[in-house]
Amino acid sequence: MLNDINPHPVNLYRWIQTGLTLSIPLNNNRETFDRNRNQFNSLVRGGQGESREAAELFYYLNRTCYNGLCRFNSSGGFNTPFGRYKRINYITDFQDYRPVLTPWKFQSGDFERLKVRRGDFVYADPPYDVEFTHYSKEGFSWEDQIRLADWLAGLESPVVASNQGTERVLNLYLERGFKVTTLKAPRMINCTGDRTKATEMLAVRGV
Ligand SMILES: C[S@@+](CC[C@H](N)C(=O)[O-])C[C@H]1O[C@@H](n2cnc3c(N)ncnc32)[C@H](O)[C@@H]1O
Repeated sequence: MLNDINPHPVNLYRWIQTGLTLSIPLNNNRETFDRNRNQFNSLVRGGQGESREAAELFYYLNRTCYNGLCRFNSSGGFNTPFGRYKRINYITDFQDYRPVLTPWKFQSGDFERLKVRRGDFVYADPPYDVEFTHYSKEGFSWEDQIRLADWLAGLESPVVASNQGTERVLNLYLERGFKVTTLKAPRMINCTGDRTKATEMLAVRGV
């Protein structure tokens, strides 16, 4: 099972399970981007967020927008700007992904609503402990980081969690009995010019 509070990637994965082929315009220019973003937001506003067209548009927006950021305003509208990539290789036929995704269950909601059975393996990849936390319209605060670490520590299951390796995140997991390691992540600390390599944390319990 894969769960995410953001319903749009979940909708895309569900459509890929059916063997999606894209029929929307996939042009890497600002005009098409603006049109597709408006169309996506109007589908979501009109209760059509689970439609095939919304899945196709979400894929296009994710590939074409600035740094692949998935950012929403407080009313749920996708508002990441145009990405200005020189070249984008879009996939138009997802048939090959179908057999891989078939056994999966995709669900959208808060992690605390998940029913985890003893012995299930759990991997948690929450929003990083950074200033920018608006992956979903709800955001992810420091209180949510604590809520997640507490919830994971209470499971009778093997657990792996990853996060940005800030001091307070390392302590959060160390204090709850996780084995904590850090590694240099293959990404930068932010997307605005600071070229410092980010430190990634892996916290492991019961593995
Ligand atoms: C670092 S991203 C991980 C993305 C995913 N692992 C992937 O590779 O596409 C963090 C994810 O946590 C999700 N998220 C935020 N708050 C959540 C919550 N309360 N419950 C479940 N998922 C949440 C976000 O929507 C976002 O997709």
